[in-house]
Amino acid sequence: MLNKLSLKIGLLFFIVVITVEIILFSILYTNLVNDRVDDVMGDLLARGNTHRDVLEENYTPSTLEHVAIMESESDFIVAITDQEGVVVTSSNPMAPEMISVIRHTDNDQVPDEGVVLESDWAEKNFVATDSPIIMDGVHSGHVFMFANSNHIEKIISNLTQQFLIIGVITVILTIITVIVLSKVITQPLVGMKQATEALSRGNHEVELSTSRKDELGELATAITRLSKDLKRLKNERNEFLSNVSHELRTPLTYLKGYTDIINRDTTSEEDRTRYTQIIQEETEHLAGLIKTLFELAKIDQNEFAIKKEKVEFDALIQKIVERIYPAIEERSIEFSYFCPSNVVITIDSERIQQVLLNILDNAIKYTPRGNHVRLEVVQNKNDVLTVISDTGEGISEEDMPYIFERLYRAEKSRSRSKGGSGLGLTIAKEIVELHNGKMEVESEPGEGTVFNISLPKEDAYEKSIVD
Ligand SMILES: Nc1ncnc2c1ncn2[C@@H]1O[C@H](COP(=O)(O)OP(=O)(O)OP(=O)(O)O)[C@@H](O)[C@H]1O
Ligand SMILES: [Mg+2]
Repeated sequence: MLNKLSLKIGLLFFIVVITVEIILFSILYTNLVNDRVDDVMGDLLARGNTHRDVLEENYTPSTLEHVAIMESESDFIVAITDQEGVVVTSSNPMAPEMISVIRHTDNDQVPDEGVVLESDWAEKNFVATDSPIIMDGVHSGHVFMFANSNHIEKIISNLTQQFLIIGVITVILTIITVIVLSKVITQPLVGMKQATEALSRGNHEVELSTSRKDELGELATAITRLSKDLKRLKNERNEFLSNVSHELRTPLTYLKGYTDIINRDTTSEEDRTRYTQIIQEETEHLAGLIKTLFELAKIDQNEFAIKKEKVEFDALIQKIVERIYPAIEERSIEFSYFCPSNVVITIDSERIQQVLLNILDNAIKYTPRGNHVRLEVVQNKNDVLTVISDTGEGISEEDMPYIFERLYRAEKSRSRSKGGSGLGLTIAKEIVELHNGKMEVESEPGEGTVFNISLPKEDAYEKSIVD
């Protein structure tokens, strides 16, 4: 079955090809017809000239008769006139049309090599030529040759017939070519249309042939890639949702457990206060988790607000250090930092604080007591590099590719015991990228981890999304 597209392409091809063919065939036909008519007229004149030559050599009644007898057996008619234009002899009886041709000939104007008098085979019954007889320099008569127009019509109709047959064959071949061509062109497109329909119905197992090396092949490759991406996204979404529900369920189970204990009559006042505090901490953790999830959802929908302003970076670092100090003290970490005093940078100060706090929090959390954490700011020409390094447990090679993924925690139980939910680095990286910055990490298990956060001083592109 021809589909709509192949029908359209086919029809267009057909009309164009047939128009070109008709134009070319018409030119060829007209030229051939003219050639054939010219041939016939040339032959007729040559025949007349031959008779004339014979007569010029030997102008006798018997020669005249001989010429007339010869032509009476041929398809042609000869009429020979004298000096005055009176017909001396002719091969056949003269039709009125022939006589009028002879009468209307201006005898003196005819050149020696003869002339075609009438070639309009379509309108007239006869075509005619005239060869003058000159003897001893004196104009002595004419040899008129006539041919019935039917003779030419027959030749032309033969030609027309051949053209018709060739024309029909050409049209059939054109139709076949057009059908095959339009199918070849549209078949992959139809396949791709079906594939995209399958994709939109939720079937993400689309596999198209991608062996072609042209634009259609590229399109098929793109659709196949798209289907794979969709499948991956669907899997990621499912995994993420189950991770989220798990993350929410765990603290909720704690909350329920502790509330149950608090409500028991046997629970002492002291325990009640302790459990209420745990409930408060868990609720805060849960609220923080939900807030981060909400922020990530906003980033996904390009609705995350980044409000940039000029910030003195050392003041910002100072603020961050003050905020993490209690945790440093508590875990007896040896902390040092350095930031040049003249660094001015255009950033969303709240968000960048959040980024640096997340990374410092990790450095402190995943570093055993007594180890080192260092923060160092280096000012370059166009960007500011913040390096946060620790001498903690490091990140294993298997975990490395995933640490920026949502809800990913290396050694889950360990990290959970430290209150982590695996969202800190995800949001940190997203925020840095919204600032057109870069975040890189190097780590050696057992040796420590180094995070490099580079932020442009001025955002040349203003890529950020401000609502
Ligand atoms: N400095 C570090 N040293 C060792 N491991 C780290 C370090 N920073 C991150 N990680 C590993 O990367 C994982 C992901 O870090 P991320 O900050 O995203 O999550 P989290 O700290 O577990 O939870 P959250 O930050 O959401 O409270 C962590 O679980 C931890 O295993
Ligand atoms: Mg963290």
